[in-house]
Amino acid sequence: MESTQRNHTIGESKNARQSSSLRLIIRQKEPNNLETLFDQVDSFITPTELFYIRNHFPAPKLDLTSYHLRVDGAVRNPFSLSYQELRDMPCETRIATLECAGNSRVFLVPQVEGAQWELGAVGNAQWTGVPLGALLERAGMEEDACEIVLEGADRGAPKEQPTPPGTISYARSLPRDKAIRREVLVAYQMNGRDLPLDHGYPVRAIVPGHYGMASVKWLIRIHAVREPFQGYWQTSDYAYWDYRDGTPVRRPLGEMKLKSEIARPSVYETLEPNQVYTVFGAAWAGETEVTEIAVSTDGGHTWAEAEFLDPVQRHTWRRWRFDWLTPKEPGQYTLLARAKDAKGGAQPDKHDQNYGSYVIDHPLPIEVFVAHGSGRRS
Ligand code: MTE
Repeated sequence: MESTQRNHTIGESKNARQSSSLRLIIRQKEPNNLETLFDQVDSFITPTELFYIRNHFPAPKLDLTSYHLRVDGAVRNPFSLSYQELRDMPCETRIATLECAGNSRVFLVPQVEGAQWELGAVGNAQWTGVPLGALLERAGMEEDACEIVLEGADRGAPKEQPTPPGTISYARSLPRDKAIRREVLVAYQMNGRDLPLDHGYPVRAIVPGHYGMASVKWLIRIHAVREPFQGYWQTSDYAYWDYRDGTPVRRPLGEMKLKSEIARPSVYETLEPNQVYTVFGAAWAGETEVTEIAVSTDGGHTWAEAEFLDPVQRHTWRRWRFDWLTPKEPGQYTLLARAKDAKGGAQPDKHDQNYGSYVIDHPLPIEVFVAHGSGRRS
């Protein structure tokens, strides 16, 4: 039953389906940190069971009968909602790509600490829930509230230095302007079904256009504040160095950067010489659209345009393909993909050190071999 459903959802690549079972890669066990096998990505929507999981603490098991979501802080009418009351409110369904800010960390040289994500800490799913703005409106948010803190029910002691005193919960703030935008959801469904535990059951935030860390899972409190929130997850962790009047200052990560990834071929795959191989990938951006993909098969010396498989849809990825006539000459070749966006932006040539071990948005080299007898063609 389960495998029928998976085959049905993944659909398009017969080769990928027959050559390996569908599963996730374990990056860490307890708490669960599981990665999508990006070379198996086919469908526009990532099936829920193949969607990456990024948990800092063990997933809390919330009881639906006692679950309440509190909306308070700088608001005129603080209130609590039961799960059923939330479900009874008008809802919206949106598709959004979530990428973990640490996705592709394994490509950093020299190696850095943290989960060694390859290409698969990213996915595109359909989310259903109540716009966060509707809850803030009902609470009567004060004019001087500048940020909205979203708090999860999970708690623990982070191990990365500097460690905070005692245990803390997972909490992140959103700038007011973003929080009231229609696309930001307090979601209870993923791909048409109730959220699975690891994806935030029963209720999570979905912040389209921002790195995944903003989409707080197991959401129990929405708190409007008058001063910028300085919590651990946006100062120590998930923060970067910016400059104010020439002085380095710490800022929270937010909007996702433009990025493209090659799904197939995968690293060190062997391809037949002098054959058309369809290079396949996906690209996404934060608050803009991906408009162009260029592919290089010679380590960045020359570039050719790829073809999009999906139309422009804000906050969702666009899959793309490029037919490569592999060289007659056996050897090692480096493939790269580089995206451009509607604002005239392009992916940078290299990783910006000010982001530390996050925001790995430069074109990622996929090295392959061209040799006779590879046995696999696209
Ligand atoms: N929310 C809570 N409460 N706890 C967490 O550890 N991880 C964040 C975010 N929301 C996290 C959380 C991070 S870093 C990411 S990338 C996304 O959830 C991942 O969402 P997913 O596990 O559904 O893919």
